[in-house]
Amino acid sequence: MSTIMQRHEENFESSAYKVIRGSRGTTLSFFLEDCLEGMRLNLKDRSVDIVVTSPPYNIGMKYGKHEDNLPRQKYLEWMGKLGEEVKRALRDDGSFFLNIGNTPKNQWIAWDVAASLREKFVLQNVIHWVKSIAIKKEDVGNYPNMIGDVSVGHFKPIVSKRFLNDCHEYIFHFTKFGETKLEKLSIGVPYQDKTNIGRWKTATSDNRDRGNTWFIPYETIQRKSERPHPATFPSRLPEMCIRLHGVRKGVKVVDPFSGIGSTALASLKLGVWFIGFEIDKEYLDESISRVLSAKKKQEFRKK
Ligand SMILES: C[S@@+](CC[C@H](N)C(=O)[O-])C[C@H]1O[C@@H](n2cnc3c(N)ncnc32)[C@H](O)[C@@H]1O
Repeated sequence: MSTIMQRHEENFESSAYKVIRGSRGTTLSFFLEDCLEGMRLNLKDRSVDIVVTSPPYNIGMKYGKHEDNLPRQKYLEWMGKLGEEVKRALRDDGSFFLNIGNTPKNQWIAWDVAASLREKFVLQNVIHWVKSIAIKKEDVGNYPNMIGDVSVGHFKPIVSKRFLNDCHEYIFHFTKFGETKLEKLSIGVPYQDKTNIGRWKTATSDNRDRGNTWFIPYETIQRKSERPHPATFPSRLPEMCIRLHGVRKGVKVVDPFSGIGSTALASLKLGVWFIGFEIDKEYLDESISRVLSAKKKQEFRKK
């Protein structure tokens, strides 16, 4: 049914709000369209390798266009429909990375959304996006690189006697069968203790699986105007997800809630195909100008 409804391939580009040529013959296509409708019309069954996205959390966030206050059950039904559409468009060995966090007063949002996808996907990995962390030297031991206590990253302080500052969010990694092979070492880290190299069959070089805690700080900004969207993730987050799944020729990435284009920026950097959906023209315009300026810098560096 869904394939009959899809736009003809030749209409794909003309239906897009904007198409930008990336490297290695790829394109980055931006659709000013509701994501459910947009995916249904534009994405063929089993055609997408990676979906990376952060949906609205339904916490009353002040977006330009989207009303972020649906009744709870309706919101979860909407997320379930998103899951159906993603499942249809995703290849059987594809990866669906869903970033979502909680609020102090509602610590179940992320898990409720994950549960709304339980029937459709296998939860292959749960990754913690750590935005800020404090490490005491005494807890680390005698490592030469660690000369004192560190407290790094950004978070919004919570003034409360009840709630801790919220310094992390989740990245749920869903797959169809739980069998998707990953390129773990493409986002690997060096061994702290180099004597581990060669100790196991898999430890052949100074690069190990970093695990499921990813420290990705927000870029430091000086003025509020530098953040033209209330709820973005740093583009290093989708970049790591894409790298983890694997950057191969022809890899197609989709962000159903593309905001100001953080996933598009990561796709441009990695030279993979990108398709994004966003209902807010201002955000979409901002994402296009960010990608065009990153592309200019990329081309300048190549000269
Ligand atoms: C959490 S933000 C995503 C931000 C994005 N990850 C970034 O870094 O720029 C969610 C986005 O979804 C958009 N949105 C809300 N409803 C939508 C829909 N039905 N279809 C497409 N986009 C939608 C909002 O306008 C908002 O920009």
